[in-house]
Amino acid sequence: MLPGDKSISHRALIFGALAVGETRVQGLLEGGDVLATARALGDFGVEIARDDTGTWRVWGVGVGGFQEPARQLDLGNAGTAVRLLMGAAAQHPFTSFFSGDESLNARPMGRVAKPLRQMGARIQARSGCRLPLALTGSNELLPISYTLPVASAQVKSAILLAGLAAPGETTIVEPAPSRDHSERMLRHFGAEVRVEDGASGGRRIILSGQPELAARALSVPADISSAAFPLAASLIVPGSDVLLKNVGINPLRSGLIDCVREMGGAVELRDENEVSGEPVADIAVRASNLRGIQVPPARAPSMIDEYPILAVLAACAEGPSRLRGLGELRHKESDRFAAIVAGLRAAGVAVEAVDDDILITGTGASPPGGAEIASCLDHRIVMAFLVLGMACKEGVTIDDGAPIATSFPGFVELMNGLGGRITDG
Ligand code: S3P
Repeated sequence: MLPGDKSISHRALIFGALAVGETRVQGLLEGGDVLATARALGDFGVEIARDDTGTWRVWGVGVGGFQEPARQLDLGNAGTAVRLLMGAAAQHPFTSFFSGDESLNARPMGRVAKPLRQMGARIQARSGCRLPLALTGSNELLPISYTLPVASAQVKSAILLAGLAAPGETTIVEPAPSRDHSERMLRHFGAEVRVEDGASGGRRIILSGQPELAARALSVPADISSAAFPLAASLIVPGSDVLLKNVGINPLRSGLIDCVREMGGAVELRDENEVSGEPVADIAVRASNLRGIQVPPARAPSMIDEYPILAVLAACAEGPSRLRGLGELRHKESDRFAAIVAGLRAAGVAVEAVDDDILITGTGASPPGGAEIASCLDHRIVMAFLVLGMACKEGVTIDDGAPIATSFPGFVELMNGLGGRITDG
C-alpha cells in the first residue's frame, strides 16, 4: 500500500485540532513526521486517537483553544510540522518551545518567524533563526498582508494558521503558486478563502479571520511524492507494468508527471476523481526508454520534493538533462542540491552543478553504481538512490535506511514486492 500524503496528513491533524468537534481521518500517513505532529498536538492538550480500523480521530478544541505545553515540543525531522505548528501556536498567549533532530535544527526558520512577528508573536531562536526556539503567541494577533520572498507552502500555511485567530482579512502574495492543500482544507472545514491571480504568474490568497471551523470527515489520498519512487523504478526497470492506486494529483504537486511525459515515459491517469476537496487518480506506468529533459525553474514549486528522483530518471535517460532553478533544494531535510550531485557522481553518472542548475548526461545504459551514498538524515535522498541502485550494474549502498520511516513506512517491502532487491546489511 502506498502511504498517505504527508502534507495533507499534517494539515488534517492540525486543522482538525482547531475545528470544533470530532474530525475523523482515513488514510493518514503513519510515518515519523506525522506522528511527531500528533504528539505535539497532544502536548497542546488536543486528544487524538487511532482506532483498530486505522481511522484517526481528532477532538478539535477550536481556534485559540490549545493549552500551554508542559515540555519542549520535539518535531523530529519534520519541517512541515514545526512551521505549521508555529503558526498555530502564535494564536495562543503562552510560550511554546520547539526543537527537532540534527537536520531540523539546522534549517532556517526566519522565513516563518518574520511574518509571525509582524502579526504579534515573539520568537527567540538560535543564530540564523534555527531551532531550538521559543515562540510566545498572542490572543490579539493582527491580520497582515505579506508578500512571500520565495514560494513556500509551509510559510503560507503558517500565516494562514495564525490568521485564523486575527480579525479581518489576512492576505498572502506568492511569487508563484505553491501547493494549496491548506486553502482547500480550510474551505472543507468552512472557512472563507479567496484566491486571485496576481502579478507575473503569482497568486494572492485572502483568508477571512476568526471563522467557526466545523469538524469534517477527511480521506487522505496516497502521496504523489512517495508514489514517485515506485513510479520511477517502474519506468527504468525493463518489463515493469504497475498501477499506483488513489494517488493525489493536485496540479500544484504533479510536475513530475509532466516531466516524465516529456521524457517519453508511459504514464497514464485513470479513474480521476475528487476526494475531500483534492483531485486523485490511479497512475498506470510501464517501463520506457527515457530521453533527457530541460526542466524550467517555474516548474520547481509543483515538484520540489521530486528532484532527487527526477535526477535519477535523468541519469538513466539518454542524452543531456538540465534541471533549472533549484536553489530551494539547499534548505530541505538535507542540502539536496549537494546530495544529488555527490550521489550521482559517486555512482559514475556524468553530473555538473552550474549556479542553481544541475546538468546530468545519461547514456541510456545502466549507470555503473557500486557507490556508498550518505543518507544525510534525508528520507527522499535514501529512497531516490535505492531506486538508482535498481538500475545500476553494481547496485548502490546507503549508509542508513532509518530516515525512510519519516514518510514511507513499508517502502522496502513494497519495492521488493514489485521485484526489487533491497537488503538490510
Ligand atoms: C510542504 C512544502 C514544501 C515541501 C515539504 C512539504 C508542505 O516545503 O518541500 O516537503 O507540506 O507545505 P516549502 O514550503 O519549504 O517549499
